[in-house]
Amino acid sequence: MEIIIKDTYDEMCRSAAKIVAKTLNCKPDAVLGLATGSTPLALYKELVRLHQEDGLDFSQVTTFNLDEYVGLRRDNPQSYHYFMHENLFKHVNIPRQNIHIPSGTTDNYEAFCRWYEEQIVQCGGIDLQILGIGSDGHIAFNEPTSSLGSRTRIKTLARQTIEDNARFFDKPEDVPIYAITMGVGTILEANKILLLAAGKNKAQAVAAAIEGPITSMITASALQLHREVICFLDREAASQLKLVDYYDWIESQRPGAPSQAPAPHFSKLRQLRSEVR
Ligand code: F6R
Repeated sequence: MEIIIKDTYDEMCRSAAKIVAKTLNCKPDAVLGLATGSTPLALYKELVRLHQEDGLDFSQVTTFNLDEYVGLRRDNPQSYHYFMHENLFKHVNIPRQNIHIPSGTTDNYEAFCRWYEEQIVQCGGIDLQILGIGSDGHIAFNEPTSSLGSRTRIKTLARQTIEDNARFFDKPEDVPIYAITMGVGTILEANKILLLAAGKNKAQAVAAAIEGPITSMITASALQLHREVICFLDREAASQLKLVDYYDWIESQRPGAPSQAPAPHFSKLRQLRSEVR
């Protein structure tokens, strides 16, 4: 894991946006995995700015969102469909048909979840996955004790998550209890992952995920198994990490670091594997 600590939330999001932009510049038809919530807001704002001012092109991009609340229609202002439209999609040129967000209102969740997984595979897998982290250590809505091999499915939200997310709703009772979410196994198949975390209330989960044991009690800890994760943290979110000095030292030495060969591309590997079969 690469740990990049920035002094401010905005700085952290601008750095993460550079990685997204670099991905799109190298692979204009990249498949992006997207998160909602407060954390990626400034990242999306920066991507919108890069699109509007620097011409960052999304015309061939495909997106898959991590999750959606069960029972919320796409036009509900608290739905993740609505969030994505307002904060990113309506400002950039991603073709509508390339946008995938789990349905919170399907008649058949099991079939929908299977279809969602199949769509990811058919699009060649996720090139770059953006993640936030819950205060209970979840990624997407993979709450504590979720299988680290899990796929897209319905999850019951933990009380902690319902409490945390109540800030977006008029009343805490309005927060849905169920969500449809990509699994930890689904997320781990992304070629590259950016985990973003900001604020003191994430510090404990961040420390457990990065420096603790791999455990389904903190599903973000499964990211330790992935070969290419970059964690972008602000100082507060990094405040409980034991090795902060080391992470800062690595960053300060980066300009002189020997260059490394890029990891093999996941979709390329999948293609090669199917050719061998
Ligand atoms: C949202 C998602 C969640 C959030 C997490 C943090 O799509 O997958 O895992 O990333 O709950 O939420 P915020 O950023 O609101 O603190």
